[in-house]
Amino acid sequence: GMTHDLAGRRVLVTAGPTVEPLDPVRYLTNRSSGKTGYALARAAARRGAEVTLVSGPVALSAPEGVRTVHVESARDMLVAAEAAFATADIAVFSAAVADVRPKEVAAQKLKKGTEGVDLSTIELVENPDILATLAVRKRPEQVVVGFAAETNDVIANAQKKLSTKHADLIVGNEVGEGRAFGTDDNEVWFVSAEETYALPLMSKDRLADEILDKALQFFK
Ligand code: C5P
Repeated sequence: GMTHDLAGRRVLVTAGPTVEPLDPVRYLTNRSSGKTGYALARAAARRGAEVTLVSGPVALSAPEGVRTVHVESARDMLVAAEAAFATADIAVFSAAVADVRPKEVAAQKLKKGTEGVDLSTIELVENPDILATLAVRKRPEQVVVGFAAETNDVIANAQKKLSTKHADLIVGNEVGEGRAFGTDDNEVWFVSAEETYALPLMSKDRLADEILDKALQFFK
């Protein structure tokens, strides 16, 4: 994609981890670096798209020419993504959203040894599934891409997510032992209703273009 083949298209990308507060100083999060999502946002902008990047906290600088919305929690990410999804032609959900959050957020630091404070048990509740919540509202001309980061059975899990999450494409990859999280390249499978195939190991920048190329095929 050296061309402006995404000119006139609106692209939504979610990226990075979410952080889920427990009290003013503690939170739950995960190892997502945001590199894949930021590469997608940069690539889409370079190809002429109007891009909204909804990002959890990462150590990357906001891409030029991209509307970047910074969020922390899954619920905030849902609200920000919801607004952009309504007008998006392509929505890529690459964020590693925390599945759960502490049920209650204490207004003050939970101090160990304090009466009524038990730090050994934290009650958790499920976060909304941003991709699944928005993709059920998918218009026929919208393309939705999701990810499946798995330690095992990548293809089977990706195929399941394709239907349960109403996605057009699931990008599946193996995680763990220095794979994918934080690295600069990735080896993935593309899973759609029509086909499942492996891509070679490549940089996350190149992968971003491959994902956008594939997304564009759904318009034809
Ligand atoms: O179910 P799982 O978390 O493995 O699914 C991964 C896909 O779903 C990714 O595309 C991720 O961005 C999206 N997701 C989401 N909101 C969640 C959990 C996952 O958008 N709460």
